[in-house]
Amino acid sequence: MAVETPLKGNIGDSIRRKEDDRFIRGRGNYLDDIVLPGMLHMSIHRSPFAHARIKSINTEAASAVPGVIAVVTGALLAQHKLAWMPTLSGDTQAVLVTDKVRFQGQEVACVIATDPYVARDAASLIEVDYEVLPAVVSPQNALKPGAPLIRDEKEGQTNNHIYHWEAGDKAKTDEAFAKADRVVKLDTFYPRCHPSPLETCGIVADINSATGHATLYMTSQAPHAHRTLFAIVAGLPEQNIRIISPDIGGGFGNKVPIYPGYVVATAASLLIGKPVKWVEDRSENLISTGFARDFHMSGEMALSNEGRILGLRVKLLSDNGAFYADAQPTKFKAGLFHIVTGSYDVAAAHVEADGAYTNKAPGGVAYRCSFRVTEASYLIERLVENAAIEMKMDPADIRLKNFIKPEQFPYTSATGFEYDSGDYPRAMQLALDKLGYRELRKEQAEKRKKGELMGIGVASFTEVVGAGPGKHYDIAGLRMFDSAELRVHPTGKAILKLGVKSQGQGHETTFAQIVTEELGIPAADVEVQEGDTDNTPYGLGTYASRSTPVGGAATAMVSRKLRDKAKKIAAHLLEASEADIEFDHGKFFVRGSPSKSKTIQDVAFAAYTNLPDGMEAGLEGVTYYDPPNMTYPFGTYLVVVDIDRGTGQVKVRRMVAVDDCGVRINPMVVEGQIHGGLTEGFGIAFMQLITFDEEGNCLGSNFTDYLLPTAWETPKFEMGETVTPSPHHPIGAKGVGESATVGSPAAFVNAVIDAVGHLGITNIDMPVTSDKVWEALNKAGAAE
Ligand code: CDP
Repeated sequence: MAVETPLKGNIGDSIRRKEDDRFIRGRGNYLDDIVLPGMLHMSIHRSPFAHARIKSINTEAASAVPGVIAVVTGALLAQHKLAWMPTLSGDTQAVLVTDKVRFQGQEVACVIATDPYVARDAASLIEVDYEVLPAVVSPQNALKPGAPLIRDEKEGQTNNHIYHWEAGDKAKTDEAFAKADRVVKLDTFYPRCHPSPLETCGIVADINSATGHATLYMTSQAPHAHRTLFAIVAGLPEQNIRIISPDIGGGFGNKVPIYPGYVVATAASLLIGKPVKWVEDRSENLISTGFARDFHMSGEMALSNEGRILGLRVKLLSDNGAFYADAQPTKFKAGLFHIVTGSYDVAAAHVEADGAYTNKAPGGVAYRCSFRVTEASYLIERLVENAAIEMKMDPADIRLKNFIKPEQFPYTSATGFEYDSGDYPRAMQLALDKLGYRELRKEQAEKRKKGELMGIGVASFTEVVGAGPGKHYDIAGLRMFDSAELRVHPTGKAILKLGVKSQGQGHETTFAQIVTEELGIPAADVEVQEGDTDNTPYGLGTYASRSTPVGGAATAMVSRKLRDKAKKIAAHLLEASEADIEFDHGKFFVRGSPSKSKTIQDVAFAAYTNLPDGMEAGLEGVTYYDPPNMTYPFGTYLVVVDIDRGTGQVKVRRMVAVDDCGVRINPMVVEGQIHGGLTEGFGIAFMQLITFDEEGNCLGSNFTDYLLPTAWETPKFEMGETVTPSPHHPIGAKGVGESATVGSPAAFVNAVIDAVGHLGITNIDMPVTSDKVWEALNKAGAAE
């Protein structure tokens, strides 16, 4: 009988996720599970109007409800200088309204009560006298002369324009266009969508009036950065603030910003002297917290007659809502959109971006995305598809012709990114082979003769993840590095503490595996802790797939630091010179005599019991890792669709996804990440839309209007991998968490366009719903 050796958890081992034991037994500890003695509950009264001046607020009826402890208004917060707070993009945002509401669902007043239902009922009794103002719901209208001024409280703000930003070389790009044989254009809109984590946002604020200590349990993807910002905004001493992010039920960028609810609950706890809990409901999450995208994009691609891309010109108009609250590095007003040249060797590119205020909730969070790279990837992949149609080239061939070649890495893009490594043709070839691409093209041609609509979508994305380096990338001025602290106990068991914070990505497993690889301690013996600012080293948190590139690198580096010390101790134990000690998978031995060895567990014990003279006791350390560059995962996604001419319904027949994220720590976890990302990409491409009517009413405020893909409609994914290690990451890994959400929407839409391009239909904006497809077919005279 074959005996299976249990996996120790080295890099490359698909061990089961340690954290799932508690999750599948219902023993996770989420924000709403936290109950403190004497805890009060908060509910928010929100504006029904998108744009309205507040004439008066009457809180009498609400205050009279038995169980209500306090009603907090903007006027009260203003007395404590807390009515406004800074955003992550250097703007200001109202905590509770003092002058006028600027989006539907904006926070107007809060009720604190002994029971959550009492708080909610009382909040509905708050009477607000509004003078309704005309709402501005598109950035195009917002920028028209005479448009209602949304941010009239800002000194010097005379219109709704927020920023103008450019990247790349305009003159060189103009030259490339002057020489081009052809120019392909695409105007497209990446609609507003919502990260929709299954757990909504919330806080339990517990300020001890005797000690002044504030313990804030928060659904935070970035607890350390949030602590610093709280200290600055609320004027609390930072050492007295402890932020604890408990288990988090999905974040996807939605839990990066600081929301008014967090601030009011904290202020209320400070003023009342009791813990205050606030947990938003689904509609509150959908109408008022961190949206994503909402980018109007105009792209032009200059091409030679042979199909070489010579230049790229892009104009962007961003709808930022009422407050400019994008979570992104300060220098880059449109995030990392300027990676828009994607996987292609394009000599010249120029991007111009403008942002506008509208009467919508603030947005711009990196929804499973590295700061707007998703919009960039969508635009370039859609443009290449349209170039292929116009030039009558195969969409795979035009990509192969223009890919950055493997020998060109490290490659500097026209807008200044240094791509670390890649082999794009290999990933594409694997995907084409897996799909049986050339055969399917023949089937498509046959079907087309019969009038049937079948499409094959191609997208070859390149991502940029793992911010810093700190000298270029910051959030609200805080440099983007990350950290790991490792303590090995005398019995050889370890605790790893990280500055990043999992929201379901499996860090407790995969980061332990890095320690296993570097030190030989089995992953089961490494406890991973995150999310408690008192007990973990400072870090910028988890979003934009930065945990593995930065926190993972810090883990490898701190493990190596400990290994160096362990080697000295092993030399002492083995009575040999340190220079003669070798290390292999948890064993130190004297070169040439492998039988003379000590395990890492022996060495750990000696670190506390039998040290060389003069050596400090213990086996622990901390590393703050500032990455030299970001990592550039990539892949090719292929989608096959069939379209019904009678209904416009699109059926995804197959999807092949080949991803390259460098070395995979835990291939099973990586596949899970890709599955989740593809599912979200599918939802964005075909189902999801947060839109507004002319009065600024949000028309996607629940899960019957805003559709999350379920197992019912999600297609089956066929996966493949190539491995091109990152040359600068200590273990060669690149981030992967968001690759699939970045790369897949274009693959889905390209499949639809591939099916209908010969009818002259070259664009259908997402979500590609059956009514839009039918409408386009009908216009082209091809609907049934
Ligand atoms: O920052 P975030 O955790 O969202 O994204 P990530 O760094 O891409 O990691 C997502 C999950 O996949 C983590 O558990 C990683 O450790 C794991 N991963 C992996 O096993 N191998 C890679 N090359 C990249 C990520």
